[in-house]
Amino acid sequence: MSDGKITLSVIKADVGGYVGHSSLPDELMETAREHLGQAAKRGLLIDFRVMRCGDDLEFIMTHRKGTEAEAVHKLAWDTFLACTDVAKKMKLYGAGQDLLSDAFSGNIKGMGPGVAEMEFTERKSEPVIVFMADKTSPGAWNLPLFKMFGDPFNTAGLVIDPNMCDGFQFEVLDIHENKKITLACPSEMYEILAFIGTTGRYMIKAIYRTKDGEIGAVPSTQKLSLIAGAYVGKDDPVLVVRCQSGFPAVGEVLEPFAFPHLVEGWMRGSHHGPLMPTSFAQATPSRFDGPPRVIAAGFQIAEGRLIGPRDMFDDLAFDEARRQANVIADYMRRHGPFQPHRLPMEDMEYTTMPKIMKRLEARFVQEAEPSPFAHTEKV
Ligand code: F6R
Ligand code: MG
Ligand code: MG
Repeated sequence: MSDGKITLSVIKADVGGYVGHSSLPDELMETAREHLGQAAKRGLLIDFRVMRCGDDLEFIMTHRKGTEAEAVHKLAWDTFLACTDVAKKMKLYGAGQDLLSDAFSGNIKGMGPGVAEMEFTERKSEPVIVFMADKTSPGAWNLPLFKMFGDPFNTAGLVIDPNMCDGFQFEVLDIHENKKITLACPSEMYEILAFIGTTGRYMIKAIYRTKDGEIGAVPSTQKLSLIAGAYVGKDDPVLVVRCQSGFPAVGEVLEPFAFPHLVEGWMRGSHHGPLMPTSFAQATPSRFDGPPRVIAAGFQIAEGRLIGPRDMFDDLAFDEARRQANVIADYMRRHGPFQPHRLPMEDMEYTTMPKIMKRLEARFVQEAEPSPFAHTEKV
């Protein structure tokens, strides 16, 4: 924590769906607004917004307590608990599903909710975009983040804005080993891509401007399945990006989503499908529980006050991406239970395979012919 700096904390959880996993009712948002409103009156928060994307309840909060501030994380946790009570009374679907722990112990990370936070000194004008996605996982941000901060075919500023010409530092997290590495773009672009193309394992954790170390972007990187060791719901990530004046322009930050790339998630967190950019109102994934959605909430921040949100994908320029996403959704769905629509076995969040295997184990018979791979060295 440091004086004069603003912290932007985005914390989200699925605490109950209406209907099924497709959305959540106004009652949950009202309960959350009441709780966060009291915290703003007490002076803990400067400002806040409560939003939803599919079945995910999203808190966008500004304060001066720094990242990982216990008081702010506890506020979010207690608010999710209060919303869970309402969800239980309404018998909403999966009430409290993302709250994996019984007791708060200082930091909400690792307890189920997703968190993206950054602290910065407010610029003369501070445009930020908060992306929120449903029915997908944090690796979904790798491709658009690379395009925003690493690809001159997306971001003209990398070539023609002297403040960006030195490029950006990509912090990449290996979620299996819980290790991170910082790589420079463009000088180590190929190494960055070698890692982040494996979206189920390597995730961009933060991006900093090389010239002065200013923070540019922070996604949530929690993977609920790894936290809980068993399926407990998809991670449905969020992402915060600062824009303009030496960062990618708002239009460059939104541009990657004109391509509805394939992400992991969709039905039962076990399928590949296109990420569809929609307006706030259309973030209600209901076809085969999808296709996965992303919304973009634009804000100007003024002394910590949130001016907004502007619904950035509520623009006919994204109609074509939505149409393409529907075409891709049709195409992928026709594969039914086959890969690559269905995820590889190890990435699925639900699978009956171990049970089937156990039941049928005794019926497998050894092939008489030697295996064609018998002499192949394992790599
Ligand atoms: C995906 C998701 C849904 C559910 C699906 C089955 O992230 O939340 O697609 O996995 O609706 O839900 P259950 O197993 O609760 O019937
Ligand atoms: Mg749900
Ligand atoms: Mg969700």
